[in-house]
Amino acid sequence: MSRRDILKMGDARLLRIAESIVAFDTPELHSLIADMRETMAAVNGAGLAAPQIGINLQLVIFGGTEVNPRYPDRPLIPITVLLNPVITPIDDAEEFDWEGCLSVPGLRGEVPRWARIRYTGFDEFGQTIDRTVDGFHARVVQHECDHLIGKLYPMRVRDFTKFGYTEVLFPGISASEDD
Ligand code: NI
Repeated sequence: MSRRDILKMGDARLLRIAESIVAFDTPELHSLIADMRETMAAVNGAGLAAPQIGINLQLVIFGGTEVNPRYPDRPLIPITVLLNPVITPIDDAEEFDWEGCLSVPGLRGEVPRWARIRYTGFDEFGQTIDRTVDGFHARVVQHECDHLIGKLYPMRVRDFTKFGYTEVLFPGISASEDD
């Protein structure tokens, strides 16, 4: 395993449409996922998408087994490896909440997301994933899957008075708890 560098906003590789994964349960795929897990854990990420480390595949990981210090008040999401995801909103309801991104260090913005979604896809072994979720879980999935279509959360911000530096917006969050 090795920790990978995370690309930052402005890098054209973050703007690509990711390609479908066609071979599951391969050594290469398991190795890539191990690197992504290590990279995400090292920076306390809520999730990580393969394009963020320069790999243009439809692969995201998110969740964890303990409370994330970057999002201490948020519910736990099961650790999930999701390939070739498809998201379908359950209805038209949107929710606004704050997001950060490992590719946009030091900043937070208020982003609208579908409140309730169904997402489907596959795990690394090719087993089907099919979940209907809401709230923070739904938000994290939408954020991560946006990375697969070249979208970073600032592109979703509607009110730019609610976009700024974490240390200014949320003085209680120390630099060590944010990227
Ligand atoms: Ni992100």
